[in-house]
Order: sequence, then C-alpha cells, then structure tokens
Amino acid sequence: MGFPVIMDCDPGHDDAIALVLAQARPEIDIRGVCTSAGNQTIEKTTLNARKIMTFLGNDVPVARGASKPLFRELITAAEVHGESGLDGPALPDPAWPESELSAFELMVKILEESDEPVTMVPTGALTNLGLLLLTRPDLKSKIRRISLMGGSAVGGNWTPAAEFNILVDPEAARVVFSSGLPITMSGLDVTHKALITTEDIETFRSIGKRTAVMVAELLDFFKKFHEEYFAGFGGSPLHDPCAVAWLVAPEIFTARKARVDVECGGMHTTGATIVSFAEADVDVLFDVDREAFVALLTDALRALD
Ligand code: RIB
Ligand code: CA
Repeated sequence: MGFPVIMDCDPGHDDAIALVLAQARPEIDIRGVCTSAGNQTIEKTTLNARKIMTFLGNDVPVARGASKPLFRELITAAEVHGESGLDGPALPDPAWPESELSAFELMVKILEESDEPVTMVPTGALTNLGLLLLTRPDLKSKIRRISLMGGSAVGGNWTPAAEFNILVDPEAARVVFSSGLPITMSGLDVTHKALITTEDIETFRSIGKRTAVMVAELLDFFKKFHEEYFAGFGGSPLHDPCAVAWLVAPEIFTARKARVDVECGGMHTTGATIVSFAEADVDVLFDVDREAFVALLTDALRALD
C-alpha cells in the first residue's frame, strides 16, 4: 500500500495525465479526487475528473470544489483545453456518482480518518486547499506535504507575470504559501522543461494499450495550443504530472529552497509568485531530466491496461 494522496485538479489535459501517472504508481494511494474551477468551469472539470477515474477503473470519491476563486471572478482556459475542458479522446460516461461531499468536506473526512499524514497534490487553482487551511488549521498536522503545480520564479504563461493556477486565485495561493507546510512547487521553471515532443506522443501511442492511446489522444489536442503559442519550445510543457513525478522520482528533478510570496494587488503583476532565497522554506523545482521524465510516463503507460 502506498502513501495517501488527495488529488485536487481542474482537468484539463495535463491534470488528466497526472491522474493517470498517480494511478499507475504503486507508491501512491489515491484516497480522493477533488476538483477546482480553472481550466474550465467546475461543472466541466468535475465531469472530466469522473470520466478519467471511470476510464482508470478507480471508484475513489470525486468531489466538486469551489465554483469560483475566493474573491475574484473565474477565468478559464478553453483555448488550451477546449470547450469540454478535455477535448480530444472519447471518454466513458462516469460509472459512479459524484461524491455527496464537497471537495472541502472530502478533504476534511480523508484527513480526519487517515491514520497517517496525507500528501496534497493540487494541480489547479488553490481555492479548495486555501479554504481548508483557513477553516480547519487544526488539520495541518495531518498534511504530510503539498506537491503543487503552479507559479514560477521567472515570468508567467497567462500574463507576463503570472502562471495560470496562481492567477486564478492568488489569495488562496497566498494562504497556501504562508501556511508553513512543506511545499514542493512545480512551477513553469521546471514544467517548461518537461516537454513532450511529437515523437514522445508516438512512442506513447505505439504502446498500443487503451490508456496509452487515450493519453496520446489527449496530447494530440493539447499540443495544438502549444504549437501555435509556444512554437519555439519544440514540445508541449506537461505541467501537472511534474507534481506527481516529483513524489515518486525526486532524483530526476533539481530543486532549491526558496521563499515564495504571492502578488495579490498589482495592476499588471497580480498572480506573480515572488521567489527569493532568504528565509527559504519551499522546495522550488528548477530543472528536470526530460528523458527520465518521459521514461517515467512511458513506464506508467506500459503498466496500465
Ligand atoms: O499553467 C499551467 C497550469 O494551468 C496547469 O495546471 C494547467 O492544467 C492549468 O491548470
Ligand atoms: Ca491543472
């Protein structure tokens, strides 16, 4: 049995692949999937999470999270993920009902009932986790670590200053980064090096198993945006799986301890993560062995049916 994990995601193509990777790894025991609004509305990201977990044959609870950020209007990313939020592969209708609990309630239930501290893996806006930390600070002792995708030390992807997940809910992000909990931050500094090329996509597809083919079809769609807007990259940055990959293979990453503050009030800089190296308490990832990252994903897809 692996270590307990709560996924908190906004599927979203790369969130879906993060769920696939988590499912494939025996070290990880997915206790629950919470959803956030971000890549698409909460209705769509929740349906997408249920579809992916059905595809994976995993009936852990999927619980709907906050429909909007703590204090702001929601921004979404249909231009990246399509109108459904998971355009591309045909996915099965959910086999199991959505949890009767909200994401907040499911987080509380899992943390209270777990006999060991739980790792939180947010790969969307941090609204749900921010709410949890504000409302139930007593449960911080049941959180082993937060391995999140978000932020960057240098520049953004949705504005020149801000990465999307942080920009959606900067106030929630500030709550998380000031919590004092152990955090590993997979920001753009590392995810822009976790590039998936068209050759990698064909490697995945050639595995020929249903999950590998589905992931290849997710990437077929995901690469369209990046070929248009990040043409010079030579591949698609696979953001969210970095937050899972670090948990099982930290050795393929390069990290530095840093302090992370979140800009919440700048006219042009809201959502920026200010990464400095004094009073450092966050493990910020700055590099990854790309070949090893692709091999990790390939092995995962070979392990699943
Ligand atoms: O900036 C990339 C992040 O925003 C990823 O988590 C992607 O899924 C979107 O949520
Ligand atoms: Ca995401």
